[in-house]
Amino acid sequence: MRLLQSLLARPKAPCSGPKPVDLPVDLLSPGFLADPYPIYDWLRRHAPVAPVTAGGVVLTRHADVRAALADKRLGNTPSRFSTLAARNRAKYVAADLAAHIPPFLDLPAHRLPRQAMSRAFHRTLAGRDPGLEALATDLTRAQAGQGPVDLLEAISRPYAVAAMRQLLGLDADPAELKAVAQGFFLLFAPLTDPAKFAALNDRMAGFRSRIAGMLEVRRGAVPSDFLGHMAALQADLPDLSGQHIVDATILLLADGVENIETGAATLLHLLAREGGPVDEAWVREALRLDTPGQIIPRVAREETEIAGVAVKAGHPVFLALGAANRDPGVFAAPEVFDPTRDQAQALVFGRGAHRCIGEPLGIALMLALARALEAAGARPVSTGPMAYQPRFGHRWPARLEITIGAG
Ligand code: HEM
Repeated sequence: MRLLQSLLARPKAPCSGPKPVDLPVDLLSPGFLADPYPIYDWLRRHAPVAPVTAGGVVLTRHADVRAALADKRLGNTPSRFSTLAARNRAKYVAADLAAHIPPFLDLPAHRLPRQAMSRAFHRTLAGRDPGLEALATDLTRAQAGQGPVDLLEAISRPYAVAAMRQLLGLDADPAELKAVAQGFFLLFAPLTDPAKFAALNDRMAGFRSRIAGMLEVRRGAVPSDFLGHMAALQADLPDLSGQHIVDATILLLADGVENIETGAATLLHLLAREGGPVDEAWVREALRLDTPGQIIPRVAREETEIAGVAVKAGHPVFLALGAANRDPGVFAAPEVFDPTRDQAQALVFGRGAHRCIGEPLGIALMLALARALEAAGARPVSTGPMAYQPRFGHRWPARLEITIGAG
């Protein structure tokens, strides 16, 4: 018995797993941006509800993230202390945008814009073939034999911008659309340079007015794009304002452009390592393994307890989808790329009331581009680690040098 007790009391052998993580965890540290997965792994085992340097907690276990997605105590409305709070609407474009778009709204305000966006988006896609294969093939072939090019700049950015421009019905220069998509996410990022932030506010305010003008042109016309279908919906949904429509359009542009442009680099990088053939199951497994949407925020609406940890009212709760998607309790050998695995538990697109509206389009966009790149024999110049943009919650490669043979 004594022997057994002394064996049990013996200090454990040095851990061969990932290194311990400093708490509170910095979700914008260079190490985390370069590779969050060993950090998630450690947090999942040792601090599954971990404090975050910027305040609040981050959840890394699949069960906790999944439960949080359905937890009515956690909301999306910004806390009243946030710059995004409704009282700042006259001061910041971001606060006014947040008051109109689903990711920052809870019921009952969430229902109207979400319902309108879903319907209009569905009608836009049902009524047309977006021609993604042809667009992806043309852009990819145009780079054949050109020597190393940046995949984002030369192919995936023009691809995502052209697709979203056409579907949404935005009559604007592609470079401007890219600037707006990028600006949307910068508006919600922590404030660093007040002068740059003021300029961004002005640019976004100007673009909102431009879209309001494009919306006016749609009134009374047969709808053929998202703006047109939204305009037509105002007859059925009288509370749907022009500003709801304008801001929904900016949200879709930003989500569509930024996730697809950068996600293409992740996919091609994986294709070089794992091989194809690329099909929908391949794309879904790639997204499970390394999703662009790593962490989504919620706010505790009241004093709350999560897995035994108290969270104060108004504090953020970050759901690490990227960690949940590699939880070994749910996915066997989670680091292994296996396109035959069951994706039913994957949390790439969220779940519940705020589930991604663009999932089918996102998959179609990724699939068409990855297939075109595969068919053209596109290859990264290096299969070493990629550099990532310093964006909270997103895993967006900054660039990927590739070559495409002259074919
Ligand atoms: C692979 C690409 C994409 C990924 C990984 C992704 C992932 C996500 C995630 C994780 C959420 C948050 C869910 C939540 O808060 O519970 C979300 C929300 C959303 N996504 Fe996507 N998304 C992608 C592409 C797109 C595209 C192409 C569009 C549209 C053009 C889109 C439109 C939206 C919208 C409108 C929401 C907000 C829904 C709401 O709050 O009610 N996404 N997406």
